[in-house]
Formats: sequence, C-alpha cells, structure tokens
Amino acid sequence: MRKIRIAIDGPSGSGKSTIGKRVAQRLGFVYIDSGAMYRAVARQALAAGIPLMDEARVVELAQNLTIEFVPGEKGQHLLVNGEDMTEAIRTPAVAQGASRVSAIPGVRRALVRRQKEMGAAGGVVMDGRDIGTVVFPDAEVKVFLDAALPERARRRYLEDRRRGETADLAATEKDVAERDRRDTTRADSPLRQAEDAVRVDTTGLDIEAVTRRVLDIVAAKVG
Ligand code: DC
Repeated sequence: MRKIRIAIDGPSGSGKSTIGKRVAQRLGFVYIDSGAMYRAVARQALAAGIPLMDEARVVELAQNLTIEFVPGEKGQHLLVNGEDMTEAIRTPAVAQGASRVSAIPGVRRALVRRQKEMGAAGGVVMDGRDIGTVVFPDAEVKVFLDAALPERARRRYLEDRRRGETADLAATEKDVAERDRRDTTRADSPLRQAEDAVRVDTTGLDIEAVTRRVLDIVAAKVG
C-alpha cells in the first residue's frame, strides 16, 4: 500500500477514532487523533485555571504545549508536556472544553500546523472535524462518518460507563447535541463534509462492518 493520507471526519460519536485505529492497524499506517490535541489544550487550560474565553492566554498555551503520541502496551498514549494525559482528556468536562477552545482561530492555527507536519510523510490515518477540508485538502482518501444522534449518544454513554464514570443517557445526548451545534456553526473550519469525501452512515452497523466499508473505499481509490 502506497503511503497515502486518509482523512476521517464526522461528528462526536460517529466512530471516527475506533474505525481510524483499526484501519491504520490493518494498513500498517500511523493513526492520529486530532481531537485529542484540542482536548489536551482544554485540559491544560482547565488545570491551570485559565478561563476558556480568555482567547489570548489559551492561544499562548496551545502554541507552547508539547503534544506527542507514543505507542503503549494497550494502544497509543498521549503525552502533554511529557506527562501521560491519555485518560485525563476523556472526561465530559474536557470534551466540552475542547469544543470551545477549538473555535478559537489561533488555537486551530497552532494545532493544524502540527497536524500537517505529522502527516507530511504519508502513511497516516487522521481523524477529526476538518481533516478533509483544511488539514489535508488533498488527501487521497476522505471519509465522512455519521450516525443518528441517539446512537452517537448511546455510544458515548457506554464509553463513559466503561471508564467507570456515572453517566446519564439523556444528559449525554444533550451534551453531544450541544457539541454538534458548536462544531458545525463556528466561523473557523466548521465541521462539514468535504465535497470529495465518501459519506458512511454507521447507524446500526457494527465496528467490523464499518472498518470493511472504509477499507473498501481505500481500495477503490488507490487499489
Ligand atoms: O473528536 P473529539 O470528540 O475528541 O474532539 C473534541 C473536540 O475538538 C470536538 O468537539 C471539536 C474539536 N475538534 C476540532 O475542532 N477539529 C478537529 N480536527 C478535531 C476535534
């Protein structure tokens, strides 16, 4: 397989990271979770007591963070300023915070620049909201994953429960809907399907079925 770039975009809970990881593994590619980078900025701002509406300070923080993805025993780990933040960025508060800081243009500029560098050599699957539209507009393969809101909320709810959090399905659905609204209506790089992306509705499909569908799309494009 040529060292192409595969962009996977879509709303929260559409299965991007689960599918992205599996597709990367099957192809021997590197997987990069761009949402984890926005989460890292939000987590550090919250921990440092920086108000998320203080754009200048949040941008400065984003510009100065070191963010690394390193392989670990149970999958990839996220190191922020050298500290393992893999679990700490997965809370609902950090998810909402990430959605807020990702609307700040200076934060996006800082992270998009690094994402472009990370993908420059190819052989990469990157998931996010603007990968096919902004980060790699010339990616060889673009996939837009989507699913009905109740199903996306249910997936997030089960994930939270698995992590031992006390989750509430109705509250999770409200949370996901609120993030959808913010991510699709922000002025800078809103979530939208690239014109040349293939849309896959994952409602009612299991992980293996979606993985196969994406690998078929890859094979059809570059086979
Ligand atoms: O994929 P995720 O839930 O980890 O992303 C967290 C937030 O980061 C999401 O609400 C929107 C933002 N994000 C973004 O704006 N652009 C990306 N490429 C990835 C995530």
